[in-house]
Amino acid sequence: MTVLFSEDPMPETKAAPPGPASQGALPREISPTVNPKGEMLSESSPSRYIAKVSFATGKEILRPIDPDDLLVHAHRDKNPIDVTAQYLASRLIQWTGNEDAVKDGLRRVNLLGTKLAEALGSATGSKAVEKSAKRLIGVTDRNVFFKFREASHLSEKEVKARIEKLQKNARALLRARGRRPRLHVLLTGATGFLGKEFLAQASNDRRIERVVSVVRPERIRDPKTKEVVKVLSPAQRGAILLRRLHISGAKAKKFVFVDGDIEKADLGIAPKELDRLEKTLTHVVHCAASVSFDDAYENSFRANVQGARNALQFALALQEAKGSKFIQHVAIETSYIHGRKKRTTAQENALVFPRNFYNNFYELTKAMASLETDYTLVDKGLRVSQLLPSIIIGHSKTGNNRGDTKVVNAPINAFGRSKEAMDSLQADAIGRGKAWLIGAIASSFPGDASAELNLVPVDRVVQGILASLTVPESIGERIHLATDNRIRSDDIARITREEIGINVRLADPTLFRNITLPIVKAALERGGEPKLANALEKLGTIFGGYNEWGQPIHDVGNDVRILGLPVRRPNTEHAFRMLCRHNKYVQEFGKVRDLDEIARREFLWEKVLGAIEHHVGRQVASLPPEEFRRHLAQRLDLKSFTER
Ligand SMILES: NC(=O)c1ccc[n+]([C@@H]2O[C@H](COP(=O)([O-])OP(=O)(O)OC[C@H]3O[C@@H](n4cnc5c(N)ncnc54)[C@H](OP(=O)(O)O)[C@@H]3O)[C@@H](O)[C@H]2O)c1
Repeated sequence: MTVLFSEDPMPETKAAPPGPASQGALPREISPTVNPKGEMLSESSPSRYIAKVSFATGKEILRPIDPDDLLVHAHRDKNPIDVTAQYLASRLIQWTGNEDAVKDGLRRVNLLGTKLAEALGSATGSKAVEKSAKRLIGVTDRNVFFKFREASHLSEKEVKARIEKLQKNARALLRARGRRPRLHVLLTGATGFLGKEFLAQASNDRRIERVVSVVRPERIRDPKTKEVVKVLSPAQRGAILLRRLHISGAKAKKFVFVDGDIEKADLGIAPKELDRLEKTLTHVVHCAASVSFDDAYENSFRANVQGARNALQFALALQEAKGSKFIQHVAIETSYIHGRKKRTTAQENALVFPRNFYNNFYELTKAMASLETDYTLVDKGLRVSQLLPSIIIGHSKTGNNRGDTKVVNAPINAFGRSKEAMDSLQADAIGRGKAWLIGAIASSFPGDASAELNLVPVDRVVQGILASLTVPESIGERIHLATDNRIRSDDIARITREEIGINVRLADPTLFRNITLPIVKAALERGGEPKLANALEKLGTIFGGYNEWGQPIHDVGNDVRILGLPVRRPNTEHAFRMLCRHNKYVQEFGKVRDLDEIARREFLWEKVLGAIEHHVGRQVASLPPEEFRRHLAQRLDLKSFTER
């Protein structure tokens, strides 16, 4: 079944919030431990969350679902005709701007192909011939589709009533803490990109009296031998974290770091500690996850679904404890739980199995975790809000990211390093030839010019999380933390060219995957550059998916309407420009890895940017690259990264 041909007849069916009626007759709520045949399902089986349904009968197909079948890559690039159709579709959409019409045309072609194959089958009297013909010409039997299971069997009216009651209870509990409620928050994921920004903003938030971070010990390995040379305890990690965040004195006193692991029951927290927390915590913010786009299903499941389940259970136990002060749980999800669909708006409140499947197991398992949240909200009565950030990038004004090298940072750093390699090879003719080759290879990136990326600065996301703590109306809601001014792949290519000086050429993702990448990889491996070959392959396959057509647009509104965030969302183009500048000067495209050094540089960077802004009277992001560099060089020695 190709993505292209299978999507239109596949109904997008809602599973939440936490909507029962929409699923009609589909079986059972999430997390059944046996399938309808009575067979035991493994803990991590996708069949616990998703049903595979026959188009013909409308009934569930009772075979366990292979997680791979839920990803985009399982349904495309099957043969040259499929690849050509994908390519032509993306061209046509670009020329016509009409995705629906192009898809309609493709569906007709698919139908014609099916009829031809069937005719061939009946002419030869062989089903095998029909099947082979279908495979050869790339048409598909649209015989199954996937559907999320229900979070609950209650009617929409009952669900609404339950949520209203939960909100009412939270309001009363909040009010009972006085006009200025003092909050005690348990945070998971404090050592991560988002968690660090949470700590930074929480240090200045007067409502927050205490933040208890659940942290696991860190094993420091020798970079060469990979042997563990040191183990940092959670308390040591916490102290280092606060130092790097420049949180000291009285402010530092509100932070404690306890040993734990989200993959364990009770988050792996020791019983004595649990007793203490039970009496004091008002909120749980579950932020920890495995944000790896190429991890195996089982690993992603353990961290993202089991981890979420443990956090929900933990919060529920707090809520039900005698004398509990617990008000609300906040689950951090991702707007990409909506996966790939045709270019339509992904509603904030609905969770729909995506027409075009998921890009990776990270997205899939985060969607399953969201279903767990729905279930715990409605069936178990946990007061919980769901916040869904889009692709998170550095701070809106400075690009500061505290050493993060994930997601968008990875390709930007790779472009920067390629540019530096090209510049250093310019001395002789051979070098220039090699530089040209690297330029040609490394600057080609899979992306459809029209694809829109939804980037959101980390400070806006944390503003949303903090706001939710005292907004009981956020309970029972899914809230996108995203922007309303998205940038397209070609804007990203333009800004990268202006800021980094590398001429990024957007390559058609289908051709890149199927033709360019295998050739380039083979050439690089033969030329003795296996590392570069691997890095390019990883970048292309992992990030290419987010730059293709068919990306959903994430609806926004609840961030302002419910959480009360400023209606003016960060300027994405400016934020992306500052990401490029930050990664170039502060991170040196990922070469500066020492987090203490990054912390030193980011502190200075923020100060210097503030001074430039004051001097020119404009936002630094609006300065052209050359002018920005001139101002920067006047204040910073860029080699030693020290103030002049
Ligand atoms: N980054 C994005 O673009 C993005 C976009 C949308 C949503 N989100 C969501 O935002 C949240 C935070 O993302 P992030 O970018 O901050 O991720 P990150 O930088 O990779 O940090 C992940 C955090 O989770 C912790 N963690 C992972 N497994 C754990 C375990 N078994 N026990 C305890 N802690 C564990 C990590 O601790 P260690 O330091 O011990 O590894 C780290 O603190 C995630 O829920 C993610 O899905 C992120």
